[in-house]
Amino acid sequence: MKKGRQASVQFDEIGYWSEVKLDIVKEYATAYSTILSAQKNLYHVYVDAFAGAGVHISKISRQPVAGSPLNALVITPPFREFHLVDLDSEKIDVLKQIVGQRTNVYLYTGDCNKVLLKDIFPKIKYEGYRRGLCLLDPYGLHLNWEVIATAGQMKSIDMFLNFPIMDMNRNALWKNPDKVSELGVKRMNAFWGDDSWRNIAYTAERNLFGLQEKEDNEVIVNGFQKRLKEVAGFKHVARPIPMRNKTGAEVYYLFFASQKAVASDIVKDIFDKYRTRGAR
Ligand SMILES: C[S@@+](CC[C@H](N)C(=O)[O-])C[C@H]1O[C@@H](n2cnc3c(N)ncnc32)[C@H](O)[C@@H]1O
Repeated sequence: MKKGRQASVQFDEIGYWSEVKLDIVKEYATAYSTILSAQKNLYHVYVDAFAGAGVHISKISRQPVAGSPLNALVITPPFREFHLVDLDSEKIDVLKQIVGQRTNVYLYTGDCNKVLLKDIFPKIKYEGYRRGLCLLDPYGLHLNWEVIATAGQMKSIDMFLNFPIMDMNRNALWKNPDKVSELGVKRMNAFWGDDSWRNIAYTAERNLFGLQEKEDNEVIVNGFQKRLKEVAGFKHVARPIPMRNKTGAEVYYLFFASQKAVASDIVKDIFDKYRTRGAR
C-alpha cells in the first residue's frame, strides 16, 4: 500500500478492493445500528481496532476517501459509543481533529491487542446489555488470536476480520515449511492461536521428493472459518469474500462472524452482491 503525504501524516493510498471493504462494512454497520437502536434495552457500540487516520487517498480517483471510523461516525441511527484504536499517534491526532467535541468517541493510541482486552472489551459485556460491532482490519499478521477468541466468547460482538492471506503466504505458508523463519512461524501462530494451521496448510501425504504439498488459499480460509466457529465460539461465520490487488491476487479475505443468524444472513447478502462484481 502506497502512502500519500499531507501535512505531517501519511495517508494510505487505497485500491478498488479497499473501497469495496469500506462499502461492505458501512452497509452492514447501518443495518446493525438500525436494528440495535430499535431495541431500547440494548446499548450498541462501534469498535475500530486498526482504525487508521479516517481518511485515505483513492488510487482510482486520486480523491480523499472516508476511512472506516469516519463512515461509522456518520451512520444514522447512530451508535451510542465509538472506540477507535491505532498504533500510530499521528493517525490518532488526525482522528482527534475530525472527532472534535463529540463526547461519545474514545481514541486510543496503542497496540489494539492490548487495548481491546484491557480497556474496550470489558465495556461490552453481554450481561450489561451491551453489544458491539468490531472491525479488525490489520495490514498483515498483526493481530493475536486471543482477541478473536475473546470476542467470540463474549457473545456480545459482531466482528469483521481481515484475514491476511498474502502476508501469511509471504511469511509463513511456504511451499517448503522447513525453510520458514522462526519469526514467520511465530507471527502465524499468534494470529491462528496455535500451530494447527500446519495440518491444514499442508497435505498429509508426501510427494515423490518426500515433501508435503501446500494447499490452496481456499483450504486455509475454510480451516480458519471452522476455527472461528469451533474454537472461538462464533455461532455464525459467513463465507468470507476475497479482496484482491490490481493483478487479481488475493490480498486478504474479509470474514464476518456473529452469534446471530440474522446478522450473518444480512452480511451474506451484502457479500453476494459484491461477489457478483468480481470478488470470487
Ligand atoms: C489497513 S489500515 C486500517 C484501515 C481502516 N480500517 C480503514 O478501512 O479505513 C491498518 C491500520 O492499523 C494500524 N496498526 C498496525 N498495527 C496496529 C496495532 N497493533 N494496533 C493498532 N493499530 C495498528 C496502522 O497504523 C494502520 O493505520
